[in-house]
Amino acid sequence: MYLFANYKMYLGFAETNILVSQLLQSETIQGSHLDIALFPSALAFSEVEKALRDTNIAVGMQHVHHIPTGAYTGEVSAIQAAEAGAAYVLVGHSERRHIFGESDTAVKAQLYAALDAGLTPVLCVGETTDDLNANKVEYRIKKQLSILDGVNPEASFMIAYEPVWAISGSGTGQACDPKETELMHTAIRREVATYTAQTVPILYGGSVNSENVVSYTSLPSVDGILVGHAGTSYDSCLALVEALS
Ligand code: PGA
Repeated sequence: MYLFANYKMYLGFAETNILVSQLLQSETIQGSHLDIALFPSALAFSEVEKALRDTNIAVGMQHVHHIPTGAYTGEVSAIQAAEAGAAYVLVGHSERRHIFGESDTAVKAQLYAALDAGLTPVLCVGETTDDLNANKVEYRIKKQLSILDGVNPEASFMIAYEPVWAISGSGTGQACDPKETELMHTAIRREVATYTAQTVPILYGGSVNSENVVSYTSLPSVDGILVGHAGTSYDSCLALVEALS
């Protein structure tokens, strides 16, 4: 079972380092059989990577640029992230799509750049409230997954289903009914199988916390969780791990 924690822009450099050292001192977390990965800010990335080296916790980037190197002020490329020790990268997170205007074409470029760099991309997909009201959920998810057309059959990647409206902070923060999650994950799994024969883990995200986490992880189609806010404090992160142990 995967537990991925996206720190977004919630935590500063010092706060991130304090949280990571608390996590590393926790016997519960050290003894956990979960596949845990942290996604700190780009600023804190290298410090976190150093702290997590030779531990059972992996580190990923929240975003990368698809071009390897050059005059792209403010960006970090997939190749640079891999060189700095990243294992994973989030691509197509709803905040990147909807706040920073990333199109499916941009997300596709990032996905393939990440694969080329040897990173494992976590392709985030999810419908907005407008999609829901316009009966376009299936259309939206299929469109977001269509960037997998042409993916190398050996490529290893993951999917995160995150209904945009369910995300705390940027969405309504209203959790998705687990029955709906199961239906969506099953549909996503079916669609992904049209592009690859690989087993693709599918994570769920959107207002997951220690109280509701098991209602998602006990679903047959859920391979793990991508949390935002609940991963950003030691107590809530520990509570998540305890709930999943
Ligand atoms: P949340 O964020 O857990 O704060 O809702 C999830 C995400 O955006 O990955």
